Amino acid sequence: MSRLIPLLSVIPLLMIGPGCTARYAPNWTSLDARPLPQWFDEAKVGIFVHWGVFSVPGFGKFSEWFWYWWQSEKRADVFEFMQRNYPKYFKYTDFAPEFRAEFFDPDAWAEIFKASGARYVVFTSKHHEGFTNWPSAVSWNWNSVDVGPHRDLVGELAAAVRKRSLHLGLYHSLYEWYHPLYLLDQASGFKTQHFVASKTLPELVNLVMAYKPDLIWSDGDWDAPDTYWNSTQFLAWLYNDSPVKDVVVTNDRWGKGCYCKHGGYYNCADRYTPGKLPDHKWEKCQSIDTRSWGYRRDMRLSELMDLPSIIKDMAYVVAMGGNYLLNIGPKADGMIAPVFEERLRGLGAWLGINGEAIYASKPWRIQTENSTVQVWYTAKNSTVYAIILGWPSKQVLQLTTPKISGATKVTLLDYPSKPLSWAPVTQTAGLVILLPTMPASPGNAWTLKLEGVA
Ligand SMILES: *[C@@H]1O[C@H](CO)[C@@H](O)[C@H](O)[C@H]1NC(C)=O
Ligand SMILES: *[C@@H]1O[C@H](CO)[C@@H](O)[C@H](O)[C@H]1NC(C)=O
Ligand SMILES: *[C@@H]1O[C@H](CO)[C@@H](O)[C@H](O)[C@H]1NC(C)=O
Ligand SMILES: *[C@@H]1O[C@H](CO)[C@@H](O)[C@H](O)[C@H]1NC(C)=O
Repeated sequence: MSRLIPLLSVIPLLMIGPGCTARYAPNWTSLDARPLPQWFDEAKVGIFVHWGVFSVPGFGKFSEWFWYWWQSEKRADVFEFMQRNYPKYFKYTDFAPEFRAEFFDPDAWAEIFKASGARYVVFTSKHHEGFTNWPSAVSWNWNSVDVGPHRDLVGELAAAVRKRSLHLGLYHSLYEWYHPLYLLDQASGFKTQHFVASKTLPELVNLVMAYKPDLIWSDGDWDAPDTYWNSTQFLAWLYNDSPVKDVVVTNDRWGKGCYCKHGGYYNCADRYTPGKLPDHKWEKCQSIDTRSWGYRRDMRLSELMDLPSIIKDMAYVVAMGGNYLLNIGPKADGMIAPVFEERLRGLGAWLGINGEAIYASKPWRIQTENSTVQVWYTAKNSTVYAIILGWPSKQVLQLTTPKISGATKVTLLDYPSKPLSWAPVTQTAGLVILLPTMPASPGNAWTLKLEGVA
């Protein structure tokens, strides 16, 4: 008898095979052991889109937090902005009817995203303000079908994105600053779960069932523990029984103290920039407008990333095993500012030439070295790619890390002629490469393909 019990408890875990898969238990040990669906690591590049009622005032640093800056933080510039431009009685919710999305063309957005070379899109289904960009049954009069656009923004974008074979990700904020039930739970020290039972969980399940996202980008988790959010119960359902159980990818923001520790891939803090190769799949999100995720009508060109700085950042992230999620904030009328469009198309032009070094690549044994220009390495099978950030003025580049062999061959991606000449630095390590006249690059970065090196 006593021998049977441990044996029986192992059986469910062993039942892996055709028509029969392992089930995840609602605890982190079990959920964290789930292998990340492969598409995510191969995709490498995604576009993040922040759009909501906050896009209407579209003002100030981190405009997507406008309501909070105004109501809770009482930030001086936001206060003055409201005083100068709106009547005294005006409330944040009065912005919603102005969120009209009259130029929103989901196919035009998807065409730009596809042209950027991104393989996935993450869209704000609901930010901390609580306004849902889909007709949520539990967000009465605070959703994009009842008020504002009178359209299902999530549904329309989902269809357009899928039509271009891009993966669909949905950003979802667990908390809502001013939802009365959330405030009630907060007052109880998160001992009660009124908000989770009647808002968070029904909406998460609704999003999954209605739009079948390939990725859930969770956020707004930090005030309360994961046991308040019932995150492990939700994820166990998502991984075991939901319609996206085999493809869905999640991040790590599932409750206070969770990030960089639990969930799917790691975002850690915003704009996480590890100094050495992390041992867990991660993603860096970065906004082209360095001061905001949501659209800001008061942004200046000097505050935006230019294309070379975007490519430099992406090369670093991919060399470090991460994915790069580049953000834009569309305008309340549904337009993507031409300056963002230009950056995204530029990124796509660069990836069109150098994508071989990015998509489905793996980190190499060394991530970077400094030559006359900075070099970031990636690898695929036995091929090594050296992404160079700049063109050496004397047209000679020395790489000290690769170990050469009789079969060593060096080419420049998309360079029409033959392999480049090179000479060894020592008998086994390093090579000096003779470069041609600088070819045009959309982003001031080029890729050398090294075969027959170790
Ligand atoms: C997680 O769940 C599994 C399966 O029910 C159980 O064997 C394991 O002890 C649990 N781990 C923790 C840390 O609770
Ligand atoms: C959260 O999970 C616990 C444990 O399974 C359950 O008792 C509770 O009812 C759940 N809460 C909600 C809001 O679903
Ligand atoms: C390369 O140079 C950059 C900038 O000058 C520096 O931050 C980095 O630490 C250097 N990397 C190595 C591997 O020496
Ligand atoms: C290269 O690696 C990929 C996965 O990283 C694999 O699918 C492919 O078969 C490999 N190709 C060769 C020629 O080994």
